[in-house]
Amino acid sequence: MNIAASSSFVLNRRHLLGIEGLSHEEIVGLLDLSEEFVTLNRQIEKKRTSLRGRTQINLFFEASTRTQSSFELAGKRLGADVMNMAVASSAMKKGETLIDTAMTLNAMHPDILVMRHHASGAVELLSQKVDGSVINAGDGAHEHPTQALLDALTIRRNKGRIEGLVVAICGDIIHSRVARSNIILLNALGARVRVVAPSTLLPAGIERMGVEVIRDMREGLADADIVMMLRLQRERMNGSFVPSVQEYFAYFGLDAKKLAYAKKDALVMHPGPMNRGVEIDSSVADGAQSLIREQVEMGVAVRMAVLEALSRNLPNA
Ligand code: NCD
Repeated sequence: MNIAASSSFVLNRRHLLGIEGLSHEEIVGLLDLSEEFVTLNRQIEKKRTSLRGRTQINLFFEASTRTQSSFELAGKRLGADVMNMAVASSAMKKGETLIDTAMTLNAMHPDILVMRHHASGAVELLSQKVDGSVINAGDGAHEHPTQALLDALTIRRNKGRIEGLVVAICGDIIHSRVARSNIILLNALGARVRVVAPSTLLPAGIERMGVEVIRDMREGLADADIVMMLRLQRERMNGSFVPSVQEYFAYFGLDAKKLAYAKKDALVMHPGPMNRGVEIDSSVADGAQSLIREQVEMGVAVRMAVLEALSRNLPNA
């Protein structure tokens, strides 16, 4: 890795709304810059000053543990003033629209707004209304770009490459912004992506995204280098998508027996939050092939890289 080159990497855009539209160079530039922050984050002194004087507001309209806390830590480690908007007790509860809330916050001159929202497209709408940089922390079933970047970083560190790897993304594909962002990113870096799910959890026309579609775990996991499991996103389901949780686990839940269909050195990933006994068994989630905790570590580094690379492009940077 060329430290000097990645150290000066700038994302020449104001917002990060998705992986779609990012070039190969931009993706690799962000991953290389993230590596520097992995090293920094393992030191006792983790503080940088590159965002000193900048204000970052985190606006989360949906529940989050990993994403919100890692964006908060990332901003603080880079020296920004970070504010978490308490959405549940905000004026939106009094009927204010998203745009009015955004304009109110914009009047406080935030440099960076990090937003998660249940509606696909809401983050892009915000980006058209405010003066600072907007980062998508997950919008509906659309995109979750920093999750795909942290997944790619985790894979690259453990496998040494992404190109040519067989990645099986399994479970609730239809409701998953994590799946969408990962499919776009992994394809851009030359992986062979498969989606593995029952028909009810596959969006129509998914093969047009350049993935192989498989409806059976045995076939879907055969020769896989990476097995990425997804949660059943029940909060996004209207109606019933699986007959029962028990049946779903029997056919599509990842346990040691099903993992044995994959390559011997296959690695297991999950963006969290996990539902043990639904899409994944504890023996696998906590087993030697699991990268799930490392994904969380990489999440802080990736968010630092995104904040840093975007802030280098802010006015007066
Ligand atoms: C995911 C999300 O919110 O999209 N979680 C995350 O960010 N780590 C996946 C999920 O909610 O299942």
